Amino acid sequence: MSEEKCLEAVGLCKSYTIDSRSITVLDNISFTVRKGEFLVVEGKSGSGKSTLLSLLSGLDKPDSGKIFVNGRDITYLSEDELAPFRNQAIGFVFQSFHLVPSLTALENIMFPAELSHDPEAESKAEDLLNRVGLVQRENNFPHQLSGGEKQRVALCRALINRPAIVFADEPTGNLDSSHGEIILKLLMELRLEQQTTLVLSTHSREISRMADRVVTLVDGRLGTQGNETGV
Ligand SMILES: Nc1ncnc2c1ncn2[C@@H]1O[C@H](COP(=O)(O)OP(=O)(O)OP(=O)(O)O)[C@@H](O)[C@H]1O
Ligand SMILES: [Mg+2]
Repeated sequence: MSEEKCLEAVGLCKSYTIDSRSITVLDNISFTVRKGEFLVVEGKSGSGKSTLLSLLSGLDKPDSGKIFVNGRDITYLSEDELAPFRNQAIGFVFQSFHLVPSLTALENIMFPAELSHDPEAESKAEDLLNRVGLVQRENNFPHQLSGGEKQRVALCRALINRPAIVFADEPTGNLDSSHGEIILKLLMELRLEQQTTLVLSTHSREISRMADRVVTLVDGRLGTQGNETGV
């Protein structure tokens, strides 16, 4: 693993107001992730894992604090400035998939590559579908796929542009263990092939054991219980 910083969070705070009561979800979170590192974020349901991943990937804004990706401050970029950056540098696998219902599996995967005018979009999408064992499903629409199949399609879509950082929010949450293994195997291969940085939230002890480092969200703060030292 490189010593180069790939991702840096500095003093991130995020609160939500519900029924005029404010709930602090993230309370002054700071940490760095090195290029090629595999970081797992753990924490109970509602502890803020999805919120943290959304901030780090520029999908949502913190109330205060900063986020740097490859040294660039992305915190207060406008949506227009962020869109091409997110499409190229970041892959995000959502807890709830977010596939486009009117597009087939293949078209969903090709979509980010087409946005960046990649002439090899289709062959790359087919290669990825093959790697996750879904080639025979390429012409199916999301409503025709099981939860686990949708999750694998969402993973392929996140990977097609070979992003420097992949955020995966409980990517094996809907999978039986053999399909969970397919997803993890693909993510691990990418790390080796492309030095992809991986930030993944999970409840699985098995996945946490594979990580370089594990951090845990408790009461809005990050604690290390890691496989390695230092946050
Ligand atoms: N848009 C929102 N408006 C109000 N509250 C929100 C919003 N999004 C999240 N929350 C609250 O923030 C807290 C953290 O939610 P988050 O989804 O980040 O947790 P999580 O750790 O990902 O949980 P899980 O393991 O169930 O996915 C929860 O209490 C949730 O109710
Ligand atoms: Mg979540």
